[in-house]
Amino acid sequence: MKQNDLKNINICCIGAGYVGGPTMAVLAKHCPNIQVTVTDHNLERINDWNSIDLSKLPIYEPGLDEIVNKYRGKNLHFSSEVEKNISIADMIFISVNTPTKTKGVGAGKASDIKWVEACARQVANNAKDHTIIVEKSTLPVRTAEVIKNILESATSIKSQKNPSISFDVLSNPEFLSEGSAIKDLENPDRVLIGGENNQAIKALSEIYENWVPVKKILYTNIWSSELAKLTANAFLAQRISSINSIGALCEATGADVREVSRAIGTDSRIGAKFLDAGPGFGGSCFKKDILNLVYLASYFGLHEVANFWESVVKLNYWHQNRISRLIVKKLFGTLSDKKIAVLGFAFKANTNDTRESAAIQICKELLEEGAILSIYDPKVSRKQIKRDLNFINDPYEIKTESNNLNKYFIADNIQETFQDADAILILTEWSEFSNINWESAYKMMRKPAWVFDSRSIVNPQKVLDANLKLWRIGDGSKISNI
Ligand code: NAD
Ligand code: UGA
Repeated sequence: MKQNDLKNINICCIGAGYVGGPTMAVLAKHCPNIQVTVTDHNLERINDWNSIDLSKLPIYEPGLDEIVNKYRGKNLHFSSEVEKNISIADMIFISVNTPTKTKGVGAGKASDIKWVEACARQVANNAKDHTIIVEKSTLPVRTAEVIKNILESATSIKSQKNPSISFDVLSNPEFLSEGSAIKDLENPDRVLIGGENNQAIKALSEIYENWVPVKKILYTNIWSSELAKLTANAFLAQRISSINSIGALCEATGADVREVSRAIGTDSRIGAKFLDAGPGFGGSCFKKDILNLVYLASYFGLHEVANFWESVVKLNYWHQNRISRLIVKKLFGTLSDKKIAVLGFAFKANTNDTRESAAIQICKELLEEGAILSIYDPKVSRKQIKRDLNFINDPYEIKTESNNLNKYFIADNIQETFQDADAILILTEWSEFSNINWESAYKMMRKPAWVFDSRSIVNPQKVLDANLKLWRIGDGSKISNI
């Protein structure tokens, strides 16, 4: 890197996923002098990012298509040539996936950093000059050490040929939420930079200063930065398990979880956000990051700490199972051949992401009970729903979607799901689900007809006025206890 010219640099991001794509798009927007190339070894994904038809972008995020449309081909590029782009980059963001390990030491809890390690090796083999490596992925504490080790080994060999080669590693975790990624990136609560070398920190900080106020940029040591990211997700997930546990208690006692949330959320020490009871947290990160924390705590012999955080994940499983069990109970103890209209499959509204969505576990449990599901989500593809429910090449799929043998049906609109349904189950809070015409839904359904609202988005009175029976999450009042 030309140390005196920090503003006109080349950035390469490895990983064109939910983080890499939107993060780099916003960076390119605010830094016209920086050439940003988002790379990925998944060619299909890169082709989708380069698609002229903006509805084909691989990620749905409000506002993202507009930015991509404006800056792609100018200073924002998408490429599958990972190594070539590493070789010309001054700064490299690692934004690859870090899922939970499925086998070997730490399986089921520790994060698998094999993709991060692969990136470090790619960088070590291809970088040509001084390069700053930025950890954007969420990583176990002390991963920077692994990256440094790999880079240092490479440097000692390469520097004999090229004395200018050297590396700095920074931690710069991402806090965006899906569905509001562009808003979060444009106006973050904070940008966190962990590192040791002041010049590298300054180089990264100056990029953010193009649109983020300086007072929002926090500097820490590299280990605090890595741990802060895991801790933030653990705290957020903990609030959801806490309120969902109280929701169950509300249903048992006649209280209403919305009222309890409002009452406690007005305490400025508690705060109002992340107190919405729902079907249980989903998304690619909460579970994996907590389990990673659990693994770290156990590794350091802190078993009480590990147990404390693990209970947040356990409660989430229990809660999702509680919802499917109560549906069985309300529908007279059996779902055999009963039709359930499932509204929403994404793990939250305004995203097409289904990773760890509560809908997956709940739908599987309903199918186990013999239900026929009619699923609608405005943004999740059929292919994705089938993949999540393991329907691809599955014995269930013995039909054309028009005959009655199939156990599932993926609908193109809400109305289609209602025909002969015994119940409507709302799992994602898409705004269109709050405007349903309940009278016409009731007419199409088999009676007694139920609405199960796990997101508190229906108007209870309108549902009841249409003669439907209603269960709402955390509602212990009479309306939900028919
Ligand atoms: P993702 O799976 O959507 O994207 C990761 C991409 O990296 C994939 O397209 C994959 O093909 C690519 N990749 C992996 N190894 C590669 C390699 N060696 N070379 C080139 N490409 C490679 O993942 P994501 O949701 O963007 O998450 C990335 C990281 O960011 C994770 O650590 C996650 O915990 C963290 N994070 C995610 C979010 C979120 O909202 N999704 C928010 C904050 C942090
Ligand atoms: C979460 C964090 O909010 C981000 O800060 C973080 O960067 C990101 O994880 C990550 O590391 O991946 P995300 O998973 O995109 O973001 O979405 P959230 O808004 O946090 O929602 C997570 C889950 O909790 C969703 O299933 C959502 O429906 C649920 N939720 C959220 C509730 O049930 N109640 C609430 O009050 C809030």
